Amino acid sequence: MTSNSTRSSSAPLNSSPKTSGAAIGLGLESSCDETAAAIVVDGRTVLSNCIYSQIDLHRDYAGVVPEIASRAHLEIINGLIARALAEAGVGFGDLAYVASTSRPGLVGSLLIGLQSAKAIAFARGIPLVAVNHLEAHLYAPFLEGHELAHPYLGLLVSGGNTALYEVAGVGDLRLLGRTTDDAAGEAFDKISKFLGLGYPGGPVIERIARTARERRRIFAKILPEPRPDDYRFSYSGIKTAVINHLRQHPDEKTEEIVYAFQETALEILVRRLYAAARGRGIPRMVVAGGVASNGRLRELLEEHRLPDETVVIPSPVLCTDNAAMVAGLAYHYVASGRTDSLETDVHARA
Ligand code: KG4
Repeated sequence: MTSNSTRSSSAPLNSSPKTSGAAIGLGLESSCDETAAAIVVDGRTVLSNCIYSQIDLHRDYAGVVPEIASRAHLEIINGLIARALAEAGVGFGDLAYVASTSRPGLVGSLLIGLQSAKAIAFARGIPLVAVNHLEAHLYAPFLEGHELAHPYLGLLVSGGNTALYEVAGVGDLRLLGRTTDDAAGEAFDKISKFLGLGYPGGPVIERIARTARERRRIFAKILPEPRPDDYRFSYSGIKTAVINHLRQHPDEKTEEIVYAFQETALEILVRRLYAAARGRGIPRMVVAGGVASNGRLRELLEEHRLPDETVVIPSPVLCTDNAAMVAGLAYHYVASGRTDSLETDVHARA
């Protein structure tokens, strides 16, 4: 492998692992283009959070190439598991359970993480948990000390998913609505590609939008009319509107176009989330997934939040794909006896 980037964080940092009585879990994540391994204690304390990002491998294709992703996971995962254990100061013998994402995602990629977890579970005789990636994302803020009573609303916004859930308990997610076409992150990636700004689009669009001087909300007219109980999202309209606008006004400044795009793309999320919270009388919310690392989204959520509403968002390293969220969520499955057999399979869809 010639190009890659790895990062590692401990959030919150705790360099002296608990030993007696604590449940030390290993989490693995390989659903898309990040290989990740993490050690979490009691579903709360992150001892290590190692992430290998394949972005450089896929950049030339402006999207994730499934076979390249699977092969990179295969090369990386064993070394990453060793690093996660070493950074946490624990060994295989200390593990109380092992967990891996099993759905949704790229099947060839999911297989690498799940099969690695099965091998460890089999060799060590410890419980295996096959985790839903979407539920794991919504668990991320609880690794940073946030507390939220059930039920709460969970808005998941990433490159592959844009969906709103009512979360009634661990493993009890009720889908309220999802995108009918593109995911929010996918819209950022496609607009970025169209403008020749690179991949992934979200971070670059956020950075360029901040430099816009004239801050017109050119695309606000495509915002959906609020309708009770309609929690669907759509991003094909804004994508087409931006492309048509650029064709008609080729001289307009890139920063002003991406500012206008970002405002409306994010406002779609904020409107839907707060409409659902107020319509359903649930003032507690989690916003997670790669797009949740957007600073402007955080500002808009704060601007429109009512005093009795609580919105928790993970810090950026826990917004994008990571394995700490997998290990953390799995702790609660183990605690309630919901573990998986070694025959468990992966699934492209949740
Ligand atoms: O959750 P994630 O790491 O991977 C999955 O899609 O599962 O999310 C990646 C997505 C990409 O579409 C990327 O463009 C978007 O999240 N993203 C952002 C930002 N950072 C990442 N979108 C908007 N603003 C950002 N700052």
